[in-house]
Amino acid sequence: CDLGHIYACANIGIIGGSGFDEPGLFENPVERVVTTPFGNPSDVLLEGVIKGVPCVILARHGRKHQYQPSDVNYRANIWALKEVGCTHVLATTATGSLHENYEPGSLVIIDDFIDRTWGRKCTFYDRTEGGPMGVCHLPMSPAFCAVARNALSTAARARKYSCHHSGTVVTIQGPRFSSRAESLMHRQWGGHLVNMTTVPEVVLAKEAGLSYAAVALVTDYDCWNENEKSVCVSDVLEAFGKNVKKAADVIIDAIQIIAATTDHSYLDSHKELVASSIMLKE
Ligand code: ADE
Repeated sequence: CDLGHIYACANIGIIGGSGFDEPGLFENPVERVVTTPFGNPSDVLLEGVIKGVPCVILARHGRKHQYQPSDVNYRANIWALKEVGCTHVLATTATGSLHENYEPGSLVIIDDFIDRTWGRKCTFYDRTEGGPMGVCHLPMSPAFCAVARNALSTAARARKYSCHHSGTVVTIQGPRFSSRAESLMHRQWGGHLVNMTTVPEVVLAKEAGLSYAAVALVTDYDCWNENEKSVCVSDVLEAFGKNVKKAADVIIDAIQIIAATTDHSYLDSHKELVASSIMLKE
């Protein structure tokens, strides 16, 4: 679709996947197996059309949820989406709340992160054969694409869903949840949410020059809140199941908003930022 500065259509990757199983929503889906220099993505890519817009769905943890957060091949996931032509990636993520105002059941259009992960591959620029050359020192402010975030916000407002239009997520390594002392510390640091997957996904999407934004679905109060039950898997799954349709609705509407935009020059800005962040290319 790249017609110089104007993109005739957007090709939108959706990471998360749950909530997009409404029959008839995804017109003529085709399964596509993609391999990358960084290994295999979590699952096949599901290519199709959502209300006239070409889209690609990828289950972050695999369709059988076989990969825990620290074992997800985030590099392969982002590379594969880029490889099939995605210009944008919209993601869903289940999160705990670190702030009384961020209530379970509500949505959040995340605008920043604190990285508490370790050992995850968080750059494409590590001299992997078939990968890009050089060393990439990419600015992380802003971490998320403002245009994609706006599209999600506009969609959530139009639906009148309970939604916070900003919020900092603390991404922990997992797979365990935080201790109470950690949860209290994350609050002191200014975190509003806690999850296990936004880092390095957002970092790699930005390195790939993609327009990336995420809609968080608040499922619990983690374990800092003495007046609330501490987080457990069954509660997270129940809250996610109850509310995932809201996140999917917002993404589907945001796709229409993004596709209706004719000036996609911000995508060139994303690419220029990456190009200007690379040292030692030879
Ligand atoms: N995902 C959903 N709730 C969470 C929590 N409390 N901590 C980390 N990840 C989560």
